[in-house]
Amino acid sequence: MRRAHILGVGHYVPSKVVTNDDLAKIMPTSDEWIFQRSGIKERRFIEHDGIGPSDLAVPACHQALERSGRSLKDIDAIIFATLSPDADFPGSGCFLQRKLGLPGIPALDIRNQCSGFLYGLSIANAWIQTGAYDNVLVVGGEVHSTGVEFTERGRNVAVLFGDGAGAAVVGVSDDPGKGILAVKLHADGSGAEDLWIPAPRSGYMPRITHEMLDEGLQWPQMNGKQVFRWAVEKMPEVAREVLADTGLTIADIDLFVPHQANRRINEFVAGALDIPAEKVVHNIERFGNTTAATIPIGLSESWADGRLKGATVLSAAFGSGYTWAGAVIRF
Ligand code: UT7
Repeated sequence: MRRAHILGVGHYVPSKVVTNDDLAKIMPTSDEWIFQRSGIKERRFIEHDGIGPSDLAVPACHQALERSGRSLKDIDAIIFATLSPDADFPGSGCFLQRKLGLPGIPALDIRNQCSGFLYGLSIANAWIQTGAYDNVLVVGGEVHSTGVEFTERGRNVAVLFGDGAGAAVVGVSDDPGKGILAVKLHADGSGAEDLWIPAPRSGYMPRITHEMLDEGLQWPQMNGKQVFRWAVEKMPEVAREVLADTGLTIADIDLFVPHQANRRINEFVAGALDIPAEKVVHNIERFGNTTAATIPIGLSESWADGRLKGATVLSAAFGSGYTWAGAVIRF
């Protein structure tokens, strides 16, 4: 069977830096609270209205293509992971396809939140293994800054998220030793309401009312402590599962690129797995949580630092749904 590989990875974040102190000017919070609880110092927000996740994805895709040695004409499918799509419908993949100038190729949106990139990677992996496609763009892109509430009511969520995009060109590995060695996906809908946006809802007519808006149901609601508990249990679990699939052990792992929801979560997970601190990629202090984009951004920065060359990389994510996933990739 053909083995799929990440041939190149890129990212893009908007230029507008928003520090914790900036947020403290518009709602009751502080740099100390945010940094101590999450490890975040600053995040990026879109510079002006009208910039959607598909716009952020365009430069990320071009960087991934350049690094992969592939060109746009080689791409034969797009998978776009986002929880903050450009519009309710059609999917951001269609907007991205138009902006890249790739008419005719399939564009699939997936809705798997923080695990979205690894879910997308799993689909691309299967497509490539079966010969359905040769080169797939797997994208994670989010614009959160327009979808969180900068008030005391929304501050537990608003301080955590940032805007950004990451992209990978997934193609056929030319070396059987390299590529996606394992990828595993999970979900448990019993926690769906622990991190969600209650409205608009298609089960209501109309889907949103003035009363719902007054209640703030259009903003994300999070049971942070519950999500934290699940994350620190499920991320090590799925990491062990993908390692077992490959026959590798933690000692074989050169780099751990986890989802970036909270630095404390990732330190705990790395500790539970006995991964030394120097092998763990953290960038939450600069970007906050960019949901589906965190893992490709982490991979892209590691590519730029030269840390992916020849490396065996472990990745794991946990988030809304609940969904969680893990992967082992050898570069
Ligand atoms: O990728 C998506 C998945 N999401 C996650 O993985 C998030 C997981 N959860 C977490 O990371 C943590 O639960 C948080 C960082 C979100 C919050 O930390 P916590 O220790 O669970 O805090 P908390 O929500 O229990 O709030 C503690 C206190 C509360 O005040 P009282 O009731 O003790 O007086 C909150 O009102 O902190 C208050 N608070 C804030 N204070 C200042 C909540 N948000 C803020 C804020 N600034 N931004």
